[in-house]
Amino acid sequence: MNKIVINSVYNNVVKYIVSLKSIVINNMDIFIPSLVGGIYTVIRSKAYVSTEEMGEHYCLLGPYKEHCARTEVEEGEFSPMSPLNIAVRKIRDKGFKVHTGTWLVDGNPQIILFDIGSATWKLDDFKSELWETSHIGIPSGDLETNDAIVLGYMVADFIGEFHKAANNMRSGMDEPPHIVAHFHEWQAGVGLIGLRTRHTDVATVFTTHATLLGRYLCAGNTDFYNNLAKFKVDEEAGRRQIYHRYCLERAATHLAHVFTTVSEITGFEAEHLLKRRPDIITPNGLNVKKFSALHEFQNLHALSKDKIHEFVRGHFYGHYDFDLDKTLYFFIAGRYEFGNKGADVFIEALARLNHYLKSSHSEMTVVAFLIFPAKTNNFNVESLRGHAVTKSLRDTLNDIQQKIGKRMYEICLSGRLPEPDEFLRKEDTVKIKRCIYALQRDGLPPVTTHNVVDDLNDPVLNAIRRCQLFNTVNDRVKIVFHPEFLSSTNPLFGLDYEEFVRGCHLGVFPSYYEPWGYTPAECTVMGIPSITTNLSGFGCFMTEHVADPMSYGIYVVDRRFISLESSVRQLAQYMYDFCRLNRRQRIIQRNRTERLSDLLDWRNLGIYYRQARMKALHIVYPELAPADESGVGRFNYPRPISEPPSPTSSRATTPAPSIHGSDDEDEVDEEKELEELGVASVDGSSR
Ligand code: UDP
Ligand code: G6P
Ligand code: GLC
Repeated sequence: MNKIVINSVYNNVVKYIVSLKSIVINNMDIFIPSLVGGIYTVIRSKAYVSTEEMGEHYCLLGPYKEHCARTEVEEGEFSPMSPLNIAVRKIRDKGFKVHTGTWLVDGNPQIILFDIGSATWKLDDFKSELWETSHIGIPSGDLETNDAIVLGYMVADFIGEFHKAANNMRSGMDEPPHIVAHFHEWQAGVGLIGLRTRHTDVATVFTTHATLLGRYLCAGNTDFYNNLAKFKVDEEAGRRQIYHRYCLERAATHLAHVFTTVSEITGFEAEHLLKRRPDIITPNGLNVKKFSALHEFQNLHALSKDKIHEFVRGHFYGHYDFDLDKTLYFFIAGRYEFGNKGADVFIEALARLNHYLKSSHSEMTVVAFLIFPAKTNNFNVESLRGHAVTKSLRDTLNDIQQKIGKRMYEICLSGRLPEPDEFLRKEDTVKIKRCIYALQRDGLPPVTTHNVVDDLNDPVLNAIRRCQLFNTVNDRVKIVFHPEFLSSTNPLFGLDYEEFVRGCHLGVFPSYYEPWGYTPAECTVMGIPSITTNLSGFGCFMTEHVADPMSYGIYVVDRRFISLESSVRQLAQYMYDFCRLNRRQRIIQRNRTERLSDLLDWRNLGIYYRQARMKALHIVYPELAPADESGVGRFNYPRPISEPPSPTSSRATTPAPSIHGSDDEDEVDEEKELEELGVASVDGSSR
């Protein structure tokens, strides 16, 4: 997955001139995804429905990063007389560099990228303006904030010019150009502050995907949710040297006509830390693509799983004494925030799971992948060697196989059957033996694929050491820490993240701080069950909309109302229960999980963005109709009727075991037929 616009500091989306109920609206979204992570996914996945809805009238704005833009953006100019083009020219006339074109993602939206470097000479002016209008001072050493200031004022300049151009074009008409600018996160918020303090006539929306202070406080082992009302926010921000950033975030929050957060739980946090309750919750969606063959996602699971099998064969060479047909792949992935993402709880629960599986003499093996980008000095020799020796064995066998085939062909042509000793020759046996000997190893299979720079202090490695999950022969839970995001060019996996997720059995995301949490949502639309928590926006959203999320393969660990020890135990139990499902049950569960994808589709969730825009417009242009706030209503996903529900036991809500105890996929047809008849199907209609 390429991360162009994102790889930098900011992205801004501008949606403009939207024809809505015959009113021409200029609508702009401005947001800033961090280097990697969910905010990028918001922007990228939403691009398709946004262009579908607004067509040519939709455009993204972001910072220009050459190495990303080269691969992800097709540069080109907008049509000469459009207000966008006029505004771009005005900005260029000021000496700022601006690149325009289309972003090569689904929807192919128009994009405007601002070269921050070309405007740094204005940094002091921009800072003075910020100080004079809002009394927020920025320390000179904070480069990220400096960039935010430059980009913010470039964007404010641009929107100001755009407003003028659109206004000129409409001269003689009754209505002014209706503009909505939607800003995401504190860095983009500078643009909002610029627009409001310059009194530019646009409606503004500000969305926070996580509060600055919230992220910091949670990372520091604070009992966050029980103390939310008690934090002295200025003092806490000052102590962490982020007071100026906090001020920018709070100013944007309060200056916005409409303020939104991605979940109720972050709304609650914002109310206490930013001192404003969100006007609307704007949950995150995904660009859901349905396959014409219903079962296609199951086939993809099997295909991707085979690729993971290949990795596992290489990684565990010499200790490859477990049956891949009885192996389950669990994973956790995301930004490397050890406690916030619940990696601590995951590793602890894996140790318990290891014990449960051993003491119950289970035949199952779990390989748990932890994918968190950390500083590394490339892949470690042991991992590379494993893949080299298995590759060498595979190549040797393929070669011998071909030769045997040729010899058999020749012998059969001569009219007789080959003798057994004519199949495998002595020299072939020698070659195979050499390969088998090369598969011997002295140590255990490594717990990490890379050389981690700060190995001694790395929190994942330390937790693995503490729990002694060292990949010994006796361990039923094996660990692979991959301290880098996945891409298809990765020499060990050769899989991108999406393919990897499809090949796994269970995503485990026991987050403590997670305003939304795309990773379990992505699992869901790919039909892969996942574990989330009641502290994640996604977990709360699913609990609200689905009667029994667990029966759909969404396990929600309680991290709010029970002790840490109880949460660990609950998680370990969920994972253990999952290990006891047979193949048929897993297939049924994946079918059920995938049914929830409509709930997460931007085609449904986009309505909240529309509401936010309309509400902001109505504040600035009261003559416009007020926003329809009915939303999509509660979805109604009842419990699947093929299974008696139980509110207390996780076992009872897992798919019913096969009466024949068979793993045969054909038996799943019974469930499929019911689904097709609509008997056990989900009613996705609004209530
Ligand atoms: N992700 C990725 N490659 C990986 C692992 C994760 O691109 O190898 C993406 C994943 O698709 C998801 C995002 O990282 O969209 C993480 O978003 P989330 O909202 O879960 O957490 P955040 O990082 O924003 O806190
Ligand atoms: C999919 C495939 C099946 C395969 C199954 C394996 O459903 O369509 O052919 O048998 O996955 O499931 P498992 O949970 O064992 O990986
Ligand atoms: C932030 C949050 C994450 C959320 C993402 C998109 O990065 O940490 O939970 O999914 O924004 O809203």
